[in-house]
Amino acid sequence: MRVPARGRAGGKVILLGEHAVVYGRPAVASGIPLGLTVEVTAGRGPALRADAPFLADDPRLPALLARAAEAVGLDPAEVVGTVESELPPGRGLGSSAALAVATLRACAAAAGRVLGRDDELALGRRLEALFHGTPSGIDPAAAALGGCFRFVCGEPPQVTPLAIARPLPLVVAFGDAPRSTAAAVAGLRARWDAERDAVETLLDATAAVAEAGAAAAVSGDLDALGAAMDENQRLLAALGVSSPEVEALVAEARRAGALGAKLTGGGAGGAVIALARDPEPVAAALRRGGSRALVIAVGAVGEGGS
Ligand code: PMV
Repeated sequence: MRVPARGRAGGKVILLGEHAVVYGRPAVASGIPLGLTVEVTAGRGPALRADAPFLADDPRLPALLARAAEAVGLDPAEVVGTVESELPPGRGLGSSAALAVATLRACAAAAGRVLGRDDELALGRRLEALFHGTPSGIDPAAAALGGCFRFVCGEPPQVTPLAIARPLPLVVAFGDAPRSTAAAVAGLRARWDAERDAVETLLDATAAVAEAGAAAAVSGDLDALGAAMDENQRLLAALGVSSPEVEALVAEARRAGALGAKLTGGGAGGAVIALARDPEPVAAALRRGGSRALVIAVGAVGEGGS
């Protein structure tokens, strides 16, 4: 083994199309610069330790390390690792998928291997399933790619990097309380079972908005992208996955000059993103309300990100 070996992967924001992506509609997402690092070394394994309290005693961590080690031909009984994370958990910023991809990269490096993008996508998705039943796979795709892409779930998923004209200035804001993506996904599934036609109409409308927003991102039309984000937020609220906290943050971001704002990820609380030509005043307004707010720029795949 070539140890110690490190692997890093970023979190993500879904710019357009979360939830609808679970029902086969296209979504647009991007990796973000905030991420986490896993370091593996030789020892009595599989053991994966994290400093963050939310992960400290999580029994899924050794299972993740064991599967990642096996996937690259290492003996899990001989590998131990540590996690250092900058990503807040449970806010819809893709911390589980980043953990899966970073662990995989660290194990691959220890095995002296470099995984191709397709292998990373497929394995990252399998490993993320340890944390979330049957995810669409958009989070590990973002962790693996780093930049902006269009995504349609499937076996294999369609992942199309977007050649966006210029980096997109975003504010990412979130509060103190983690929430459950699985619960939001299950709630929408129950509604889809009960009122399929109405929900399908909203999902089709979301798909159209995601395609319009993808085209706007590629051409650098920030006004049109902002309008698509606002429309997507209205549809997410109609689907029942927004929350009063999210609506308040979105309204505040728009008052402070955002071109568009919406929840990102599972919703029902969690993180909000706002697109703004001048993001600092928007971030400041959201911080005054008690949220954490980060200013980031998301770019094309290969331009940075994670
Ligand atoms: O909350 P997150 O970061 O796990 O994002 C979930 C995105 C959903 O579309 C709601 C679910 C999925 O599997 O795509």
